[in-house]
Amino acid sequence: MKEGHLPVLADEVITMLAPAPGSLQIDATLGGGGHTERILEASSPSGRVLGLDADPAAVERVRARLEPRYGDRLVLRQANFRELAAVAADAGFGAVDGCFFDLGLSSFQLADAERGFGIRTGGPLDMRFDPTRGVPAADLLATLSQEELASLFRTFGEEPYSGRIARVIVEARRTSPVSTAEQLAALVERVAPSRAPGRRRIHPATRVFQALRIAVNGEMEALETGLRAALDLLRPGGRLVVLSYHSLEDRIVKQLLQAERKGCICPPAVPLCVCARQPRIRLVTQSLTPSEAELTANPRSRSARLRAAERLVA
Ligand SMILES: C[S@@+](CC[C@H](N)C(=O)[O-])C[C@H]1O[C@@H](n2cnc3c(N)ncnc32)[C@H](O)[C@@H]1O
Repeated sequence: MKEGHLPVLADEVITMLAPAPGSLQIDATLGGGGHTERILEASSPSGRVLGLDADPAAVERVRARLEPRYGDRLVLRQANFRELAAVAADAGFGAVDGCFFDLGLSSFQLADAERGFGIRTGGPLDMRFDPTRGVPAADLLATLSQEELASLFRTFGEEPYSGRIARVIVEARRTSPVSTAEQLAALVERVAPSRAPGRRRIHPATRVFQALRIAVNGEMEALETGLRAALDLLRPGGRLVVLSYHSLEDRIVKQLLQAERKGCICPPAVPLCVCARQPRIRLVTQSLTPSEAELTANPRSRSARLRAAERLVA
């Protein structure tokens, strides 16, 4: 495997953000800093970037790699993007020209056996982006009821075998805790076929790992709050660009953009608009996916989908 994290759809992200010299941009998900670096280059010599990541290790890695080159053009904060409104205002980024989200986890996190994100990497089942806050995945597996586990796998993983998987976990934990990625993957393999009907071939535990990670990090609720904050921060003409990697994330992005683009929030039963809300955005592109060349060079870009919108005056 290549070292580090290759930024996904990097040319397309830069085209959509169009970061000019002197502009202010926010990267809400620094990861390895690949997109941030591209934004700083494209807005040279005076564009500035506020970079956030919930993971302290990501912030420190980017600080070491990019701060020597870009100095005070790069402002870094360890924070969850659900706190974007407050963090941006505090950092002097209260009105910005671009805001970028690259959702999910980085290759650094996936490869780190201490974090438990990777089915094949193994390790203790933690899965917190910020290991100092919240509850590790192993605690959820130890404490949720069989029904709660099944519901979690169904809701956040769209897992067709959620019932069987929840049952085998509850049976196993009667003798010993399910506390490592290896144990969980082996349990799921026992009861779920490697290829669910109508789905492409993936490891049978992929959806269960995704569901746990989403639950541990409160990802869906953070995404909605973060996107709303980003739209509020954008100046007229400013761009929001989001890369999502599965249908649950993409649905939240798509529905929020559709609603903001329409303006009116009157119920369908009301014949004439009484809310008088104006559209706040226009869509810059419906959605973009990686080219064949990018898929070959970076198979992890496989499920990426880019959506972009521009803030209007309203
Ligand atoms: C796909 S990676 C970003 C990769 C980055 N664009 C690059 O080029 O290297 C996603 C990053 O977002 C972070 N992240 C996920 N959810 C977050 C949240 N709610 N708040 C802040 N950071 C988050 C993860 O810790 C991870 O480092």
